[in-house]
Amino acid sequence: MNPPATLPENIVLIGFMGCGKSTVGRELHHRLGYPLVDMDQVIEQRAGKAITEIFAHDGESVFRDMETALLKELSNPAAPRRIISTGGGIVTSVENRALLKNLGYVVWLHAPASVILKRTRKINNRPLLDTADPSARIRALMEERTPLYQETAHLKLDTSGLCCAELASGILECSRYFFNNRA
Ligand code: S3P
Repeated sequence: MNPPATLPENIVLIGFMGCGKSTVGRELHHRLGYPLVDMDQVIEQRAGKAITEIFAHDGESVFRDMETALLKELSNPAAPRRIISTGGGIVTSVENRALLKNLGYVVWLHAPASVILKRTRKINNRPLLDTADPSARIRALMEERTPLYQETAHLKLDTSGLCCAELASGILECSRYFFNNRA
């Protein structure tokens, strides 16, 4: 897929479950005033059910198709600037990775597996971690996905030592530089 003539000025957050995409997305939305699209929330609203139910009743592939369809909608170049928070598995399809790269400034929020385990342990709303050994699942998925986040992102930020406000400030500064200096 060829890059669009002008890259839309969206800020797109990618990264593993529990890395803080939704929280940082809300902070960026408050600071910039751009509309926030939390893709998981939009998919749940459209389906009229929670992601756990989509996985259980329709299967993961139906959820993945919904993600791709929504990414395509968001790729409309005439749309206003937005903050887009994605689900952790968005990078697993080649098509999605190409769509993401053309959607705006892509920021990979990263945290070590031990931090992810702690953050995701309390809330049981992630079907992929609903397993006897979530720690092993996190490590396996991370190994698989790390190169995919890497190839898709313009910026990688380690979230473990920084608060939400610090992360948002870093993203704002870097994105401003990126959009002002691109060819
Ligand atoms: C998923 C991550 C979830 C959600 C779904 C699948 C994944 O989003 O999209 O449960 O494949 O990593 P969060 O990253 O917001 O938890």
